[in-house]
Amino acid sequence: MKRFGWIAAALVFPAAVMAGGGHGMPLDKAGIDISDTASLQRGAQLFVDNCLSCHSAKYMRYNRIGQDLGWTDEEVKQRLIKGEAKVGETMVSAMPADYAKTAFNGAVPPDLSLTARSRGADWLYTYLRSFYVDPARPTGANNLLFKDVGMPNVFWREQGVVMPVTHEVAHEGGAKEIVVDALRLEQPGTLKPEEFDAMIRDLVGFMVYMGEPAQLKRLGLGPWVLGFLVLFFVIAYLLKKEYWRDVK
Ligand code: HEC
Repeated sequence: MKRFGWIAAALVFPAAVMAGGGHGMPLDKAGIDISDTASLQRGAQLFVDNCLSCHSAKYMRYNRIGQDLGWTDEEVKQRLIKGEAKVGETMVSAMPADYAKTAFNGAVPPDLSLTARSRGADWLYTYLRSFYVDPARPTGANNLLFKDVGMPNVFWREQGVVMPVTHEVAHEGGAKEIVVDALRLEQPGTLKPEEFDAMIRDLVGFMVYMGEPAQLKRLGLGPWVLGFLVLFFVIAYLLKKEYWRDVK
């Protein structure tokens, strides 16, 4: 019987089951709103300015972003395209693949088109705000959610210098382990903490949109579908009254 409980839980809470693997660390709520076009526009800009140098988003075309977020092809060219790419092309990183393989000690920057779907918005939001200073790492940074991550902390200027709060655990046999309990903002960045969170929220919102661009159309369709249902209910009710009037 117990097993059925687990299966039922997995069906009802698939996200909770899949989200495991983050050291059991609780995730912060991203609180994104993908109907907020201005936020998605800011997110798209942040993405091309800060992430596309290493990561690709090869399922996303530049002009599709323009169509969905209200930019002309000319605006898309000016805002989003750094190199020679045409507006009809997909977002491919400028970094050569063989260089990427060696640059980060074997950790290859994955394509980010669908990462919001595989990881979830809350995971991304927490991950991008969980980098801290760790001189033992080749990049000088570590991440509380993604231990020994190969990615450098791209937003350290904006977020500020974040240090780990640690304690030492002595294992039997004399081995010692440093455990990170929390993160502490040692030196403020160019943004206030709430401004930094808002910036990451914009970026994650864009990544969620990118994971399934059609969801914007669906959102726009929602009110029409509901309106139709309401109208249909009224008509059905009036019809029912009409039919049953003579029966009573
Ligand atoms: C200097 C190169 C570089 C830049 C710039 C960069 N990343 Fe990364 N990123 C990496 C590497 C390398 C990894 C692989 C880490 C590993 O596997 O240890 C990675 C991993 C990730 C992951 C984890 C993916 C997964 O599911 O495992 C996410 C999410 C991510 N990056 C998002 C971003 C975002 C968003 C930006 C822009 C704000 C960005 N990255 C900018 C190099 C970069």
